[in-house]
Amino acid sequence: MLTLGIESSCDDTAAAVLKDDFTLLSSVLTSQDQIHTRFGGVVPELASRSHLESIVPVVNEALQRAAVSLEDIGLIAVTQGPGLIGSLLVGFSYAKALSFVHKTPCVGVDHMAGHILSVFLEKEQPSFPFIALVVSGGTSSIYLAKDFTTFTLLGRTRDDAAGEAFDKVAKLLGFSYPGGPIVSREAASGSPDAIRFPRSWLEKGSLDFSFSGLKTAVLNYCNTERQKNNSLPLSDICASFQEAVVEVLVEKTLLAARQQGVDTIVMGGGVSSNPRLREVMEKRCREEQKQFFFPRPSYCTDNGAMIALAGIQAHRQDPVFSYDRDVYCRSILS
Ligand code: KG4
Repeated sequence: MLTLGIESSCDDTAAAVLKDDFTLLSSVLTSQDQIHTRFGGVVPELASRSHLESIVPVVNEALQRAAVSLEDIGLIAVTQGPGLIGSLLVGFSYAKALSFVHKTPCVGVDHMAGHILSVFLEKEQPSFPFIALVVSGGTSSIYLAKDFTTFTLLGRTRDDAAGEAFDKVAKLLGFSYPGGPIVSREAASGSPDAIRFPRSWLEKGSLDFSFSGLKTAVLNYCNTERQKNNSLPLSDICASFQEAVVEVLVEKTLLAARQQGVDTIVMGGGVSSNPRLREVMEKRCREEQKQFFFPRPSYCTDNGAMIALAGIQAHRQDPVFSYDRDVYCRSILS
């Protein structure tokens, strides 16, 4: 059976066609970065308008590249939440309409499940149970994944998500949106030990995150240097900020693995394509004898393939779909 995956939760319109054995036939994505970059972040109203323009051509191109038609599709998987309501509504309503007209079964997918399972698009796959660190522009969460549909939330951010912190620091340094990849490129030529930015560990044993204080510390550092008429050491600021984020993400993920007695760690979400995060996580997993799996960068950021994959599993678990279902803005994975 072939599954059409549709993703429109934030600022990427994406679609993919996936076989039951997780072989990917096509994956198409239109990014809205150019629209939002001059505002320094995603403007929800502009995002939903852009999804409206892109959704039909993106889905058609995914079908075309896979050399199939809608009649060949056995399941339509679509992101139901969490995300921006206006953005979600475009993909979800379009999927419901396609499903109704073509009498194709439909399944609503939680975006977080997509990120947790995106590693199964790769040849090397983890076995359950595993600890999943999901880090993107909208979330920083740690889950215990028991099987393809059972996820327990162990920790999450209490304020900014890791990607949001990257984007906000990028903005205050004068970089364009999305700033995460720019900060990580700039960090490559800086020293991670140049400036000791604070690490927020919260209460002992807590798996929650907090990145807003770190963002303020970077702002204060920049203001102080400017007052002294010093030029900002951009690479060192980026490397030192990145190191503070990476250290907390890695150590809390390993703590979760120890607390749960689990030996396998998985990463997903846009920030998990950060080379330093991958490097440190790999090193620490080796030291603690944990197995570590992560998807290639194009599967880390939002994509239709991960939604198709999570949809196949969710549909096996619960094949009943009601057209009364609506989108939601907070993850239902608890
Ligand atoms: O998962 P994603 O594509 O979209 C959602 O937020 O759902 O993640 C996008 C986020 C942005 O905040 C972006 O700046 C960040 O991931 N990001 C990175 C890197 N690549 C993308 N952050 C740090 N380092 C990177 N290399």
